[in-house]
Amino acid sequence: KDLRLVLGIETSCDDTGAAVVDENGRILGEAIHSQKEVHLKTGGIIPPVAQKLHADNIDRVVNEALVSSGITPQELSAIATTVKPGLALSLGIGLSYSLKMVNQYSKPFIPIHHMEAHALTVRLLHNVDFPFLVLLISGGHCILAVAKNVSDFLLLGQSLDEAPGETLDKVSRRLSLINHPDCASMSGGQGIEHLAQNGNRKLYNFRIPMSQHQDCNFSFAGLRNHINHVIRKKEMEEGIQQGQILSCIADIAAATQYTIAFHIAKRTQRAILFCKKECLLPSTAATLVVSGGVASNGYIRRVLKSVTDSMDMALLCPPPKLCTDNGVMIAWNGIERLRAGVGIMNNTDGIRYEPR
Ligand code: KG4
Ligand code: ZN
Repeated sequence: KDLRLVLGIETSCDDTGAAVVDENGRILGEAIHSQKEVHLKTGGIIPPVAQKLHADNIDRVVNEALVSSGITPQELSAIATTVKPGLALSLGIGLSYSLKMVNQYSKPFIPIHHMEAHALTVRLLHNVDFPFLVLLISGGHCILAVAKNVSDFLLLGQSLDEAPGETLDKVSRRLSLINHPDCASMSGGQGIEHLAQNGNRKLYNFRIPMSQHQDCNFSFAGLRNHINHVIRKKEMEEGIQQGQILSCIADIAAATQYTIAFHIAKRTQRAILFCKKECLLPSTAATLVVSGGVASNGYIRRVLKSVTDSMDMALLCPPPKLCTDNGVMIAWNGIERLRAGVGIMNNTDGIRYEPR
């Protein structure tokens, strides 16, 4: 029997990604174009700039994924594309490109929710049955949910202000990591993780956020404010200007990473206790899946592993390359939806899709 094949296209933020994946989870072809370096220089993503870069690269990226897969557009079972959430201008490029393709080749279209795709990536690699607990930590999101089904998630908690990757990016910008010889080309989170290896987190005591709150929500803005305050104080003590590198940068990075890791771990532990009480997860072999860009942090993974070990759960994280934004997860989500028979727009006389 012919295996189903899906082309996935991702343009929700600053990565232009495409991939062809088959029903068995084999990645037949993939390509990605990262805009990270451009956005590092401007100190953040400027949406029209991101849009232009997606527009400039999408055709090349999609063709590269197709050509390396050896699959022709005619052979595809469907085209899956991220339609939300994300930057509207960026999403628009992937959507209009995909719609042109689905109509040119008369293919079914599968609109994809970016966070659903992050959550389901693990099933391309491992045999994980529903329901499972999922923690998504990235530059734009911070979510704890029970994945009950391909398209059915029970939201347990989310960030009340900013996402952890955003905090890491802003703190590293404030620490001028772009001027640091070791981490100039790293993302904020990578830079902090790198520096923290040689730092002493105990030299700074940042309070773990929300420890008095009886829920599974997150908050990082107050912590970031406190860290900024400490950095300002240190700059005055050392008599240096913003932009120069503090001598205590590694210690601040270590304390920042520690506090973020423990805040995430505590909220996750609360979610696990809640799931146990409400019998939301299997009584044996329950699994916590962690994904999103921040999940590539080795320290955060180790802290979460100690939580799951102590609560008799398995911990699964996709490899870093599949934790950050990519086309593979979108193609795989398309396969999942084809198999479940949900959310497929069949192309009888052309597809229009209105983003909401
Ligand atoms: O999933 P992603 O590529 O894009 C979003 O959907 O946001 O995540 C990007 C975020 C950035 O904030 C980046 O600083 C963070 O993931 N990140 C890390 C690490 N690598 C990337 N955070 C902590 N430790 C890392 N090693
Ligand atoms: Zn993402």
